[in-house]
Amino acid sequence: MTDVLARLAALRADDLPVHTGRTLAYVFDSGLPEVDRVAREAVAAFAATNGLDPTAFPSLLQMENDLVAFAAGLLDAPDGVVGSVTSGGTESVLLAVQAARDGTPHVGRPSMVVPDTAHAAFHKAAHYFGVEARVVPVGDDFRADVAGTAAAIDESTVLVVASAPSYAHGVVDPVPELAALAAERGIRCHVDACIGGWVLPYAARLGRSVPSWTFAVDGVTSVSVDLHKYGYAPKGASLLLHRDAALRRAQLFAWADWPGYTMLNSTLQSTRSGGPVAGAWAVVQELGHDGYLELTRKALAATDAVVAAVEAAPALRLVAAPDSTLVAFTTDGTCDPFTVVDEMQARGWHVQPQLSHRGRPASVHLSVSAATLDHAEELRAALDSSVTAAVASGPVAVDPGVAALVAALDPETLTDADFDGLLAAAGMAGDPAAGGFALPERRAAINARLDLASPRLREAVLVAFLDRLARPGS
Ligand SMILES: Cc1ncc(COP(=O)(O)O)c(C=O)c1O
Repeated sequence: MTDVLARLAALRADDLPVHTGRTLAYVFDSGLPEVDRVAREAVAAFAATNGLDPTAFPSLLQMENDLVAFAAGLLDAPDGVVGSVTSGGTESVLLAVQAARDGTPHVGRPSMVVPDTAHAAFHKAAHYFGVEARVVPVGDDFRADVAGTAAAIDESTVLVVASAPSYAHGVVDPVPELAALAAERGIRCHVDACIGGWVLPYAARLGRSVPSWTFAVDGVTSVSVDLHKYGYAPKGASLLLHRDAALRRAQLFAWADWPGYTMLNSTLQSTRSGGPVAGAWAVVQELGHDGYLELTRKALAATDAVVAAVEAAPALRLVAAPDSTLVAFTTDGTCDPFTVVDEMQARGWHVQPQLSHRGRPASVHLSVSAATLDHAEELRAALDSSVTAAVASGPVAVDPGVAALVAALDPETLTDADFDGLLAAAGMAGDPAAGGFALPERRAAINARLDLASPRLREAVLVAFLDRLARPGS
């Protein structure tokens, strides 16, 4: 037994840290060990319970309804709002799209209108549910283009999408205008607040200027907000709220035409662990509004410090003034963002590279947590010295022959053997003798090559990579 736990601890040793305030993507850190302890114990206590049947484990139903009620207050929801706990932001988004599609049955070939900054989960939903995604480029301010959205809506549209805020640039779309366009035409409007939905209401209470985006805006029909991001809950918990029960109806699924139990589900999962529900419930009870207000104050102060550090660095450019706690910056050409990411990693800070997209340069993303505030000065120093090192080494040079090859490749025509060659050329083949597919510590060269590829080629190469990574013994 102890041996197994020791082996688990050893496996964790190579992971990113989750509680140091220095991992600025993937994890959200309150910096409060007591909250983390309560969360861990709640998850463990409910790990074996099953939300498959809400009458079998009424505790889970109670906690789910409590979480929806708490969020309803936060999101200015009217009486009659309903919601579900899902496994994460992607599942909430998938269900918002599915409910819109199936709740609008008279539309034969449904479409939705999404800004090009909307989360990739909408494209997964389009792919899974056969809903065409009509992508509208955002304006120079990185916010959804209202006129472009209006032009993209037609009789096939079942959903208009807005982000509050967008992941890549951290700005809130013009929700009142987009929701009005949808409402005038009797179409649903989903606000994806997966990453900002637990921050923005508290930011407003702290006196920050926050654009309108909640259910207080007429025409907003559903909102997604993740508990496992700025709700600081353990992973596996998000909320999808619908303005009323009729809007949610198509999300609920029952199947009685087989010889087993009648299946009755509100989400994509059927058996679902009570662990994440209990973990989220415990954290929300433990923190309450006062706790979240303080955590938001810290996360915003840390964000301000990051913005100041970026603005003070001559080689860096802030992409957009953040509306919440997400920062994106790019470089002035004397260094590249990918090397800055590597240099930060070498100094113990994990920040996330974002590849160039639709003519916009590559950038670096930081999701800033409350726990980062205590390390804001170290972060500034790490950023300064990382940029100095990146400028000294200069932008990554990709061999012109490789660049030409990448530009000419058509992912549709590539064979498995071609992908093996491409992965090797990109530095993503690992060393099978040394245990397989671990990427090198420094990844700027890989990112610089991927950056030259089209989105379709990037996807194809990364799927080939995942295919080789996810094999026993790799
Ligand atoms: C705006 C937004 N929507 C959806 C998601 C998807 O969330 P998840 O990774 O929990 O599936 C994210 C994740 O960062 C997000 O930022």
